[in-house]
Amino acid sequence: MMCYALIRKILFCLAPERAHDFTLKALRLAQKWRLTGFLSSPVSSPVKVMGLEFPNFVGLAAGLDKNGEYIDALSTLGFGFIEVGTVTPRPQPGNVSPRLFRLVEQKAIINRMGFNNKGVEYLVGCLKKTKYKGVLGINIGKNKDTPIEKAVDDYLYSMRLVIPFASYITINVSSPNTENLRQLQHGELLQSLLRALKAEQAEFFDKTNKYVPLVVKISPDLTPDELEQMCAIFVAEKIEGVIATNTTLSRDGVESSPLAVETGGLSGKPVRKRSTETVKQLHMILGNKIPIIGCGGISSAEDAAEKMAAGASLVQVYTGLIYQGPSLIREICQTSK
Ligand SMILES: Cc1cc2nc3c(=O)[nH]c(=O)nc-3n(C[C@H](O)[C@H](O)[C@H](O)COP(=O)(O)O)c2cc1C
Repeated sequence: MMCYALIRKILFCLAPERAHDFTLKALRLAQKWRLTGFLSSPVSSPVKVMGLEFPNFVGLAAGLDKNGEYIDALSTLGFGFIEVGTVTPRPQPGNVSPRLFRLVEQKAIINRMGFNNKGVEYLVGCLKKTKYKGVLGINIGKNKDTPIEKAVDDYLYSMRLVIPFASYITINVSSPNTENLRQLQHGELLQSLLRALKAEQAEFFDKTNKYVPLVVKISPDLTPDELEQMCAIFVAEKIEGVIATNTTLSRDGVESSPLAVETGGLSGKPVRKRSTETVKQLHMILGNKIPIIGCGGISSAEDAAEKMAAGASLVQVYTGLIYQGPSLIREICQTSK
């Protein structure tokens, strides 16, 4: 989109985090003044996944709206679903700045935000105010200072508060920016975490008759053996969905950038293949037992089609949106029709 190319030029003059805040605030203002009317008819291409009706298969990935402050504004962009978070029980500032880096030539981002968020109670306040009626995922994680053995308490605490507002809940065990978090992807730690959250899901269902699917978000840096073991646990614990993937610790494809040395998770074009490979392997192991949400490096309709061909039922975008603008959502939906 010509117009977005110009907007991007201006936004990229700002430091990445400022550009991020500015864009979301401007979008919210535009939505309040009803200037987003021309954007707001989501492309209708309905799909049913995890028992939920999605108006189309393109969602917003977690991390853009960590506190759920911009749900109504973001809903004007035509997403089939929106995921907010990652949220933790207590507010926390995240890592010190700078913690977000644009690798423009590679159409990539490195971030080490570290779950900066205003805490789950604040998020719930925002959820009470939103007018959005579409599919809403809520992504939960643990506080930085919660020891890994106690992580389950953090996830349970947030889950109890957000479940009445969630279409589905994402269990984030794959951010590379919270020390040891990725340990929760393995063995006994993963199994006991999922078992506790499934018990909570069942309890909520008994009380309210509302079934809220649980989705696990995984890293693109797992070995085939690790993936195999995780899938066995997902099946045993009756997990309803898997998001593949989060950001990568690999620096493949960005070696030439001076920013490649920055610590953090890499997203955008360079992670595309790795994420698609993960989707493919998951699909080979899981068949149609558990739906997969493909995420990582989608910046065109072809990239989305690649994830679907690998076995995804839905896709999510984040970095592609920063580089291509919101027309990406429409482009993906229309091309796939
Ligand atoms: C700045 C930034 C912050 C992110 N924060 C989160 C987060 O809080 N929780 C999460 O599950 N994923 C987070 N992600 C990962 C994205 O949701 C997505 O999984 C990843 O970036 C790959 O998709 P992409 O290449 O389309 O960006 C973040 C990504 C970026 C770039």
